[in-house]
Amino acid sequence: MIHALLEKAFGSLSSPTPAELGSALVSLPLSLDTIIPYLPQPADLPYGRKVLLATEHVEIVLILLPPAQESAPHNHGQSFGWEWILSGDLTNVIYTLSEDGLRPEQAFTVGAGESCFVAPGEIHAIANRGDVPVVSLNAYSPPLRHCRQFQAEQKGTPII
Ligand SMILES: [Fe+2]
Repeated sequence: MIHALLEKAFGSLSSPTPAELGSALVSLPLSLDTIIPYLPQPADLPYGRKVLLATEHVEIVLILLPPAQESAPHNHGQSFGWEWILSGDLTNVIYTLSEDGLRPEQAFTVGAGESCFVAPGEIHAIANRGDVPVVSLNAYSPPLRHCRQFQAEQKGTPII
């Protein structure tokens, strides 16, 4: 059922602009109840992650980030993306990388019903500093390739 919804909203998008992709994402007639059967449980990462749709131009990923969990700093390669929060409060931490290493530059919280934009190459981490799981539906274009993950304590050395 959800796959038909996603296919309808994103299947025909070809090289969407950030505005087009963001608009398609937040226009989805989705509620938390609709998404619950698809929620991915964390396994090898601090968060659960499930690709719900992948086309030549767009990738849609469902994220479940439990309380007190945080991802490693990472970027999305050349893809831009939107993260639409369906439940909980997501803290988005943006890093800068310089010869001094990787440093958190700013952090802000995105609540349920809100979305935030992640620019190509931007290094960020997602954290849940609240008491309930964060559920977000993320849309990327082009599909994720060459994402890079960093360890802050290793002065920004890529680990993958
Ligand atoms: Fe990310």
